[in-house]
Amino acid sequence: MIRLIKSTYHNEKETTKKLISFIGHAKQLSFGPECHKFEAEFAKWQKRKHCVFLNSGSSANLAMIQALINFGKLKTGDMVGFSALTWSTNVMPIIQLGLKAVPIDVELDTLNVSSKQVLKILKKYPIKVLFLTNLLGFCDDIDEIKRICDKKKIIFLEDNCESLGTVYKGKLLGNYGLASSVSFYVGHHMSTVEGGAVCTDSERLATMLRIVRAHGWDRNLSEQKQVKIRNKYKINSTFYSRYTFYDLGYNLRPTEINAHIGRIQIPFLKEITKQRNKNFFEMAVPIYQRTDRYYPIKYSHIDFLSNFAIPVICRSQKIRDELVEKCNDKIEIRPIVGGDMTRQPFFSKYMKQFSYESSNAKLVHEQGLYFGNNPELTDREKKLIVQVFTK
Ligand SMILES: Cc1ncc(COP(=O)(O)O)c(C=O)c1O
Repeated sequence: MIRLIKSTYHNEKETTKKLISFIGHAKQLSFGPECHKFEAEFAKWQKRKHCVFLNSGSSANLAMIQALINFGKLKTGDMVGFSALTWSTNVMPIIQLGLKAVPIDVELDTLNVSSKQVLKILKKYPIKVLFLTNLLGFCDDIDEIKRICDKKKIIFLEDNCESLGTVYKGKLLGNYGLASSVSFYVGHHMSTVEGGAVCTDSERLATMLRIVRAHGWDRNLSEQKQVKIRNKYKINSTFYSRYTFYDLGYNLRPTEINAHIGRIQIPFLKEITKQRNKNFFEMAVPIYQRTDRYYPIKYSHIDFLSNFAIPVICRSQKIRDELVEKCNDKIEIRPIVGGDMTRQPFFSKYMKQFSYESSNAKLVHEQGLYFGNNPELTDREKKLIVQVFTK
């Protein structure tokens, strides 16, 4: 069986050895200096000023929405647009925090939301925040979406949990919005076992995210920022300052263990994304040539494609079902991410008014599947995958 994921993290044996030694010598394992070092190193990799390390990509999504609420940029009942084809915990924080989650359909050839779809939805709904997913390493015309958001004063956020390392028009995905989330869950581009982050250039947002990450208190802010916030709220005594809760927060902290794994993994990121890029061209290109069986997927507009799975959208449900049968016990496959969110029970329960009958997301839900693209795939395995999907 060719599994979606082969190991817990890259260079598993060596990384585990280093991790054991770190745990044996570390003065503390709860959030601390190793997390700060990881944040600095990852921000540099992502070419952003700030990285806020969290315990998952889902937490990163939740923290971003909560931070905007804390700033008063979003209020109960406001509308947030999201990609109809995404993962559950991209949408759920919107609903959980009392906002309206407005699905935006994707383009069939890029699997992502385009500026055309954004303009269509903006004619219908007064959207305050656009929270789009960069699905499976791909994007549509995200530069144009950013331009529309700037013009209409809509806050643009990216869920970049599936596209770490993709470069579009000379810029890394995750750097188009005010902020973007990353997931470091096993099997994503880089693993810290569990983990996630928000990257942004906004110092003010990064500070609020640090408050949201840990109980609403100021303990993980710099000394200078602590002085500022304590003065603002007239908290003069050390007795109370450590237990003053400034705004709404959670406990979304990662540990020093996750940070240490991340610090070992960052130097491999370039190699990992390069290998996955090579795998994509070796497998997806011949498969996509079967246009009689599959819808074409567009990737020529992307400078460097970085994904961890390869989507296949079948021309009919029958072709997809036959493939599922053929892959049984041979190749591990999955629906495309979480499928069309509007078909999910949770969405019908809470946001029924935004469900729609036909869409590209629905077609992908019913006729799509993906197989893994991990850097450890052997030539034999890649050959077998191509054979199963093309013969
Ligand atoms: C688009 C997207 N957003 C968010 C997440 C959640 O990330 P995590 O599993 O780290 O919570 C995922 C997970 O696969 C995802 O694909």
